[in-house]
Amino acid sequence: MAASIMKWQAQMIAPVADRGQGTPASFVSKSLILTHVSPDTQLHISAQGLYLCFINGERVGEDLLTPGWTCYDHRLAYQTYNIAKYLKTGENKIVIWLGDGWWRSQMMWAQNPIFNCWGDRIAAIAQIQSGKSLLLATDETWQSGNLPITKSGIYYGEDYDARLESLKEIGGVEALTFKNKLLVPHETSPVRALPFLAPAEQWAEADGSTVFDFAQNAGAVIRFTVQGEAGAVVTVEHSEILGPKNHFDNRNYRSARAQIVYTLKGGAAETYQPHFTFMGFRYARVKITGKAKLITIHAVPISSVPDMAGGFTCGVPEVNRLVMNTVWSQRSNFIEVPTDCPQRDERLGWTGDAQVFAGTACWLADCETFLRKYMRDVVADQRKDGAVPHFSPDPTRLHPIKGRGDWAGSTGWGDVITVMPWQLYLHYGDVGVLQECFPAMLKWLDYLWNISGGPIVRPPAVWGGKGFTFGDWLQPVGDNRKPRPTIADDCAATLYHAISTGLAARIAKIIGKQKEATALTKRHAEIKRAFEREYFSSTGRLAHNDMTSYALAFLYDLVPAKYAVAAKAYFRKVIEDADGLIGTGFIGTPALLPALTKLGMDDLAEKLFLNRKVPGWLYQVERGATTIWERWDALAPDGSIYDPDMNSYNHYAYGAVCQWLFEDVAGLAPSSSKPGFDEIVITPNFLSQLSPVSAWHQTRHGRVEARWKINGGSAQYEITLPEGAMGLVKPNSQFPVTHINGRKTKVPVKGQRLGAGRHEITFAVKANNKRRKTQ
Ligand code: BGC
Repeated sequence: MAASIMKWQAQMIAPVADRGQGTPASFVSKSLILTHVSPDTQLHISAQGLYLCFINGERVGEDLLTPGWTCYDHRLAYQTYNIAKYLKTGENKIVIWLGDGWWRSQMMWAQNPIFNCWGDRIAAIAQIQSGKSLLLATDETWQSGNLPITKSGIYYGEDYDARLESLKEIGGVEALTFKNKLLVPHETSPVRALPFLAPAEQWAEADGSTVFDFAQNAGAVIRFTVQGEAGAVVTVEHSEILGPKNHFDNRNYRSARAQIVYTLKGGAAETYQPHFTFMGFRYARVKITGKAKLITIHAVPISSVPDMAGGFTCGVPEVNRLVMNTVWSQRSNFIEVPTDCPQRDERLGWTGDAQVFAGTACWLADCETFLRKYMRDVVADQRKDGAVPHFSPDPTRLHPIKGRGDWAGSTGWGDVITVMPWQLYLHYGDVGVLQECFPAMLKWLDYLWNISGGPIVRPPAVWGGKGFTFGDWLQPVGDNRKPRPTIADDCAATLYHAISTGLAARIAKIIGKQKEATALTKRHAEIKRAFEREYFSSTGRLAHNDMTSYALAFLYDLVPAKYAVAAKAYFRKVIEDADGLIGTGFIGTPALLPALTKLGMDDLAEKLFLNRKVPGWLYQVERGATTIWERWDALAPDGSIYDPDMNSYNHYAYGAVCQWLFEDVAGLAPSSSKPGFDEIVITPNFLSQLSPVSAWHQTRHGRVEARWKINGGSAQYEITLPEGAMGLVKPNSQFPVTHINGRKTKVPVKGQRLGAGRHEITFAVKANNKRRKTQ
């Protein structure tokens, strides 16, 4: 339990005006008389529910969706603001608006919605101090009343009646029993607005409404200015997609209403942006009832990671769009918690998605504190038996769903507990995250071993059973009259049993847990042997003969040497039999291309990556996607929408391919022996159709840049290393180095070191092409 670093004297106070979840929002208020305003006057504030603070009518700060989302029964974030500029001598009015938020608005989908998940009372806690002297603190002398927000919810949207803007205090407050030690300083960057998006297009619908296309799908809110008569109403619906004939379609939102209903107060122009909700959309349909005219309208994307920390471009424009689609899906789903999607009645911190995306996330944005915070939630939600939740913060931990067992313990998902700390360690070099999560890792590994009492994990088929796994979720089977091979749950589960045990053994060594390191290394070897016995045929063929099995087994060194050549040939045949169409789902896809380049099968990696048919990354780009789709087949070639019951157009999981673009194509990889980009391992793979390639990344030492271009039989590779980052050119049999900085060079086995500054490296490429044709 993170210790609260400041002395709280305030009480958590609930507005008596509040009538419960789904009713009008309310506020608490108090006056503060000041004889002088000292420049170091600070406000420390938090809430049960979401809050906004106004001083003398002016909103404090620009942070959105404060105090944020954590496992509120474990820790609750507070923010601190210097408020001197809002205060004046004499009477100051402090008003704290409160909304249902993640605290008590609907969580989970329609079949098993959870309301009041973390509590049924919204409340605020705040204190104003200058240095050590307390000027004001929330207590039972505060007043309360209702807000013009007549209803709000994360999925619901917001109803706002501007005629109710002159706030009336109609009652007092009640001090709640609350453990102040739950309060922790907000652990990551606040949710902020990105630059507004103006409509790229608009058109009228038959029912008199107008549809606005903002040309970018995003986690966002609408913002508009309208003028008209009091009582006129502006209703805004949102959607990610248009069906055939430009039909406005948001059936995939499921039970998330995701609407805005704004009632005008009339007179001068009125500007409105929702306060306690957000949506996932590209299109907005606006209907006005009564006399009013829309003057301006914008989409306001929001995110906890608004700024990019890395970029990748190449000679294929659709690939560059795919990278930006990944950036937007990250922004849209990194809103306090890494969620699966921002639009439907889900938006949950799914661990599997976050696990496979962790590496890419760190390349594209500075995620250290954001994902570290998330890991604290995952650890808080871990079950006593070691099962790691399917999503975190986990509403089902406090409100188990009858008859659906425990929503925890799936391999591939629970392995976030080893994989994400490892990626954070590689990217930011802080062993602290490894030490903090190591006990939870051990509990998870014991849980995995106990599922079937040994190295081979045999998950039950029933959702909710101990060890149930999502396997390789959404693995495409192709034409279901002649379905292509897919991986079985026990094989997928055992692969991840080995992956997590292997990672934990390395981590134990790094944090000096020698005894555990020895035991885990031994257990990893045992799982590896069992995997060989159970899944390899005597000819080196993997049992399910599907792309996911080979990709994960080769990437994590689980293929015995004696089978390497044969298994590689089987792997190639499976892909060629599929005519280079992807045959992997959530856990197989991130491993597919890295495994192929590791095996020198770039021709297949290039074919899979650049195919434009479904399933394929570029298929969705060619259909106009501006974010990453949940399903490969989310939209049919004729524009018809695939089953809206589970079809998000903004899921970052398949964007995890960007890690391969940075590490295997641009050839920039963090090193586990010198993490945090103290050392950058340079291992480019020259996929000719992607030439020219360029990538950049903001490391803790500064910006690293790399670019390459193929000229005939060689590739010119340029890299600029910041002070503090050492380059290590590894020997590469596929693309041997011929020159470094103009000097003929044979790279020694242990690699060639490069200091800070700009370097030019020439690699031989031709050999590769010739080899490509024959194989
Ligand atoms: C979520 C995914 C998740 C999957 C696992 C879906 O509903 O959107 O993000 O990984 O369930 O079952």
